[in-house]
Parts: sequence; C-alpha cells; structure tokens
Amino acid sequence: MRKPFIGGNWKMNTDSKSAVELAKGVAEKCASYLSKVDVAVCPPFVYLPAAKAALGNSAVGLGAQDVYFEAKGAFTGEVSCGMLKDVGCKYVIIGHSERRHVIKETDALINKKLTAAIDAGLLPIFCVGELLEERNAGKTEAVVTEQIQKGMAGISAEKAKTVVIAYEPVWAIGTGVNASPEQAQDVHFMIRQLIAKMYNKDLADNMVIQYGGSAKPDNAAVLMAKPDIDGLLVGGASLKADDFAAMIKAAAEAK
Ligand code: PGA
Repeated sequence: MRKPFIGGNWKMNTDSKSAVELAKGVAEKCASYLSKVDVAVCPPFVYLPAAKAALGNSAVGLGAQDVYFEAKGAFTGEVSCGMLKDVGCKYVIIGHSERRHVIKETDALINKKLTAAIDAGLLPIFCVGELLEERNAGKTEAVVTEQIQKGMAGISAEKAKTVVIAYEPVWAIGTGVNASPEQAQDVHFMIRQLIAKMYNKDLADNMVIQYGGSAKPDNAAVLMAKPDIDGLLVGGASLKADDFAAMIKAAAEAK
C-alpha cells in the first residue's frame, strides 16, 4: 500500500560536471526498480536544471534541499516554490537537521515552508529527529512529537496526504553510526501513531516515513525490512550512483 521511496540528498556536494554524471548514473542504474520504488535526487539549487536535463525522461524525481515560503520579492538569496517548479522539481526537503541546527531554522519557519510547498504542489520531505543528548535523556518521543505538531500546525488532512516524513536522528547523520533498525522502527511506529491521532488512521497508514542517518548499501535491507520504514533519505551514500542504486534495489526487494 505504501510505495518505498528513496531520496538522495546531495547536500553541498558535486559540481556542474559531477552533478550531471551522478544524475545520469542514477537514472540508468535504478531504471529497472522504478516500478516498485519511487526515487528522487536532490542536488544543490544551482545544479537543478542541469540535473533535470541529465535525468531526461527517467521517472527519477528531482528535489530541492530547501525552499523559502514567500512567492517572490525582496528576499535576497532565497528561492521560491514557483522557481523550483519552474526548473522541474517535484520534491523539496524541508526542515533538514542541518538547517535546523546550523542555519537555526525554527519550527515556525519550517511550518511556513511546509505550508507553502504543499500549496504550490511540491511534495515535501519533512525532516525531524532528535539530538544525541535528547535521546540519552529519554526525550526522543517528546522532541519528534513537538517537531511534527509544530511543523504541521494548520495543515489539513487533505494537504497532509502529500507529506513524506523523514525521521533522521541527528546523531546518526553523517557519522557512520546509523540508528539500529529497531531504534528506527520504534520511532517510525510512534510517528505513525501520532499522525493517526493528529489526522486519522487512513492517512497514517498511507504516509511514507523515511529513515535517514548513515543509511548505506550494507544496512539498507535490514532497515527497509522493518514494517514502518518505508524508505530512506540518503546523504553520503547517494553521491555514488552504484551505492545509491544498491539501496534502491534493496528497497525493491524488501517490500
Ligand atoms: P547521511 O545523511 O546519509 O550522510 O548520514 C542523511 C541526511 O542528512 O539526509
């Protein structure tokens, strides 16, 4: 009922040549799995048009790593939902931990971005996740619940249907230490229950919840085998087409 969804978050990596090569490589190597798995690549803003061209008529979706909530105007350095759609984006990552913790984005700003993205017809990948000290203090559920309640405040059930949630424990991102499949499953289950409570069971049952944080070819299958893990948001391992394709294959075989 839920189609697995694997996203590649390239972060601030690649250049004009390697972005094109990577997009082409992903399109080629995952072509045979696209009937079973949704796939997206999220290059830096400046390489979105080149990556779109490189994907050609592949069903691999294009995503951006962030967006601003205003439609246009005097917002130096920002990029609007309309601009993302104009260059062929289908998805947008919102509330990534690096934006929350490095750029200091608040739940209130993330809520505006999420609302704007949905209204513009972009499919948001809404990231949540706790810090190590929050996990160690037994606050994972409270932190993730607050991020989801504040991030999705005022978003109707109809609109929430288009949201993908990515659970990315901050301590697992880029560290090589992934959450164990059991740790991830526990939080995914909790998120699904929360969505059922905030909205309804049908919406919760259909919501795609990705795991992110040191997901790689050798742990993709065990993570994807868990009942509430519907996909992966992949940073480092998405920068090599072979590794990324191996994870897409693992997702296709796990579900
Ligand atoms: P990572 O990043 O796979 O490099 O840990 C995941 C993410 O931040 O989306």
